[in-house]
Amino acid sequence: MRQPLVAGNWKMNGSLDSVTPLVEGIKAGLDSVTTAEMAVCPPYVYIPTVAALLAGTSIALGAQDVNDQESGAYTGEIAPNMLTDVGCKYAIVGHSERRSIYGESDAFTASKFAAARKAGLVPILCVGELLEEREQGITEQVVARQLGAVIELEGVAALGDAVIAYEPVWAIGTGKTATPDQAQEVHAFIRGKLAELDADVAAKVQILYGGSMNAGNAAELLSMADIDGGLIGGASLKPEDFLAIGIAANR
Ligand code: 13P
Repeated sequence: MRQPLVAGNWKMNGSLDSVTPLVEGIKAGLDSVTTAEMAVCPPYVYIPTVAALLAGTSIALGAQDVNDQESGAYTGEIAPNMLTDVGCKYAIVGHSERRSIYGESDAFTASKFAAARKAGLVPILCVGELLEEREQGITEQVVARQLGAVIELEGVAALGDAVIAYEPVWAIGTGKTATPDQAQEVHAFIRGKLAELDADVAAKVQILYGGSMNAGNAAELLSMADIDGGLIGGASLKPEDFLAIGIAANR
């Protein structure tokens, strides 16, 4: 059985004053989450503060991005070892906001994925199609291409120590969630693609859904066979909503 993972991607939100009540609120309700691993991905600058607040809890820490280089003249960037240094377990790579707003390619994402793994981080690889790609009927092609870049660089076995997040871009921050069937279809496609290469990896890898997942729709999405958790944006900023999603993953 794959353990569900419910990870909060706080994106570029919050302040030094707001992170403490947010984390304390999650900690206060954590006993009700019996099955899922909970994780939070704060903005880089708040990671040490959040790490201190999380000490001694089961909540994992992640970063929202990572650079593919180990160190050096890369102004403004954060290296994988810096993230392990401050207590991160996870690093999101290839979020659609990185891909579409900052023009990050499949190849760069794959390189980040490789660097994260090398440093001992668990990459959360985001894949997902734009609205026009769904309308053109090329969702599977897009997702296969995004996954393929990582498999080509690192081999399929690398995905056995990683997490995949399917985030249809049209569902992110729009309140328009994919239906459970729409999400399940793509999750099953991803698992099937991996199974063609390595059945063990396919059976093991957690595939999270992301895109307007909230307290109201989580249970239905999480009941689908290939949906192993969520990557949560907006709803991860409210402890009660984030916890409700964790509780919806109770088995
Ligand atoms: P929302 O939950 O706000 O739609 O964001 C999803 C997301 O992008 C998580 O990475």
